[in-house]
Amino acid sequence: MNLIPVQLYYEESGTGYPVIFLHGFPFDHTIWEPLVPFMTDKAHLIFTDLRGHGRSPVPDGNYSMRLLAEDVLNLMNTLKIETAVLVGHSMGGYASLAFAQAYPHRLAGLGLVCTQAGADAPERRQARYQLAEEVGRKGIKAVAENMAPRVTRNPEQVKPLQKLIMQNNPKGIIASLKGMAERPDALGWLSAISTPAVVVAGEADVFVPLERARTMAQLLGKAWLVELPGVGHMPMLDAPQATADALNQLIQMVISG
Ligand code: MLT
Repeated sequence: MNLIPVQLYYEESGTGYPVIFLHGFPFDHTIWEPLVPFMTDKAHLIFTDLRGHGRSPVPDGNYSMRLLAEDVLNLMNTLKIETAVLVGHSMGGYASLAFAQAYPHRLAGLGLVCTQAGADAPERRQARYQLAEEVGRKGIKAVAENMAPRVTRNPEQVKPLQKLIMQNNPKGIIASLKGMAERPDALGWLSAISTPAVVVAGEADVFVPLERARTMAQLLGKAWLVELPGVGHMPMLDAPQATADALNQLIQMVISG
């Protein structure tokens, strides 16, 4: 297995306990910006661009979730961070779970935002390969037009999200789609995660059904669930204060041990 990490692009704010944010597919670190005014002043917030996204490198090969986890470990080592809270949105959540499995001793808490632990059903997997093929033919437009109107319930967010998606490199988008399609099921070992975790779910999320978020919260050892009514797949944009409140509670719990 190729597990050669890259140096991720990141931006940071605040000082205190390290909290690393991993965005979903096919966005970048800027999706978290609306949260910042509501976040605790007791944390060192680190916002990354995952490989193939934003300003991070776009290497060859499929981007397995395990490989994304390796990039996060590399970033922690570069920043001399021994343990951190990981906050993962959607694909960033898949990567956070892969990190939790590979490096449990480096993890202090998990914020799982609109994400799930189960692998793809065969139809979903097939749809990802089809979309990857379409991106190869038509470019990123294929993803931007298809996804942006469905991730948020706020029509004003659609154009900015399309613009953000369009800034990505098609090669990185294709590699991520294939990586997500191939991700293994994590349901079987979730109960082994011993850190505190919060699961934030949008009740109107069409990408991650509420049932999947509920199942994940039940299987995690020390988790609680925050369901946001009227919110879709992007709670950091559509309900920033409620999302930050949930994460602040997690961070406070980690700090006070
Ligand atoms: C994401 O937001 O990361 C993706 O929608 C996740 C997915 O398609 O499973």
